[in-house]
Amino acid sequence: MRYTVKSGAIEKITTDCLVVGVWSKGVLSDEAKSIDAASGKTISKVIKAGDFTGNLGETTLLYGMDGVSARRILLLGAGDKKKLDALNVGKLVEAAAKAVSKLEASSVHFAVSSLQAKDRDGAWLASMLSRNVEDQCYRYSTTKSKKPKPASLRSVSISAIAGTGRKALEAGLKYGQEVGKAINTAKQLGNLPGNVCTPTFLANEAQRLATHHKSITTQILSEKQMSRLGMGSLLSVSAGSAQEAKLIVMQYKGAPNDSRPYALVGKGITFDTGGISIKPGLAMDEMKFDMCGAASVVAVMGGVASLKLPINVVGVVAAAENMPGSKATKPGDIVTSMSGKTIEILNTDAEGRLVLCDALTYVERFKPRSVIDIATLTGAAVATFGSFATAILSNNDKLSETLLECGEHALDRGWPLPMWDDYQSLLNSNFADIANIGGPKGGTITAACFLSRFTEKQKWAHLDIAGSAWNSGNSKGATGRPVSMLMEYLKRQKA
Ligand code: BES
Ligand code: MN
Ligand code: ZN
Repeated sequence: MRYTVKSGAIEKITTDCLVVGVWSKGVLSDEAKSIDAASGKTISKVIKAGDFTGNLGETTLLYGMDGVSARRILLLGAGDKKKLDALNVGKLVEAAAKAVSKLEASSVHFAVSSLQAKDRDGAWLASMLSRNVEDQCYRYSTTKSKKPKPASLRSVSISAIAGTGRKALEAGLKYGQEVGKAINTAKQLGNLPGNVCTPTFLANEAQRLATHHKSITTQILSEKQMSRLGMGSLLSVSAGSAQEAKLIVMQYKGAPNDSRPYALVGKGITFDTGGISIKPGLAMDEMKFDMCGAASVVAVMGGVASLKLPINVVGVVAAAENMPGSKATKPGDIVTSMSGKTIEILNTDAEGRLVLCDALTYVERFKPRSVIDIATLTGAAVATFGSFATAILSNNDKLSETLLECGEHALDRGWPLPMWDDYQSLLNSNFADIANIGGPKGGTITAACFLSRFTEKQKWAHLDIAGSAWNSGNSKGATGRPVSMLMEYLKRQKA
């Protein structure tokens, strides 16, 4: 997709589709007024007829207007002008991108400069437009014999925005485009079925990243190598599977070698049956999404490299398949993690933390400035936040606040949960240093407490994306979250 800024009278812009906003109760935006005047009141007529009211996210198409060069006009409901905050701009931009992605239009111009959020600048609006266009043009097709038609859009332009320079708008477009592409990478990996997207497949994808980007080097650790490192916890998860576990290590260099990196660690369970503590059958297919944390790490590494961010980043993915079998780990089994801590595995379905703890220990060797792990870790996070928020847990209040703020800015929201010491004792074991479950209460917090035992030396945050990483039901599919939050976090960092 090509993204540009076009200035000049919007009625004279040659495009397949021109998008203009209308406030609630049919009040025309400045751009809609220009088109209305040039076209002999065509928009006013539609509104008088009562066919369009301007509710937030409402869209309708008008064709063949005299006096207007565009082939179509998309009216976009902008809602109550006084209520136009970033969240509502996000909603209307998403609606517009969805509508234009379905058209037989190869070009679109967004004349929406007046739809500015009170609390954001023009570059932010530009980035939201390009990000949402990329996101909405994604079509899953890999495993369909009858391929869905790809979106027709090829070029997107936006009007200049008063108060924001052209360079800044272009930078906003570029940033949003790369975030959108990274979101789609994460969605694609998440959507692939478990028999395609195995740990080995993920490892190959990470290798491919390194061939695409000179700034990325990828290293894959085999089970044998992990065993030599003492990763008994991670390996206990793949013990029942015919698929070999992989530890995928991606290093991006955008700063001098001695600049300490930012670390991302992803849970990459390519299918979670629960193991011997097997899950019930209902909706178990959705456990193919149990590698969405890993997908977000791979996607963000690619996005960071495309944007050439001036920092170093290390991405580690703990990839394994959790299966029952004659060699599978059993409840009550005790394993030794790379840190030396022994773990009593009381429930083999609490496997995410078992692969993450060894990956978190491994990442210490890079002396990271911060470590963020991303994981579809607990059903309790779904119960707590539904699909709206990613749970944020951290041993560092500043880091937690920064992630909250980045999620807010990028409209990819997270919300904190406490990590009080009170919860730690729930992990006590009679036979090992620590148990892998903390009982039925406070599941998201006790899971994070488990991880905190392996990150004591690090500035660390944990993102539980069990609720936010995919949608169920008719629109079943990965969402690409929390790629936007992570990209925003890394964009704000310095070498
Ligand atoms: N991958 C699941 C978490 C999950 C469940 C995410 C449902 C989204 C929807 C994880 O491995 C798991 O099974 N967690 C258990 C932990 C429990 C055994 C302590 C859970 O949440 O039930
Ligand atoms: Mn599980
Ligand atoms: Zn899992």
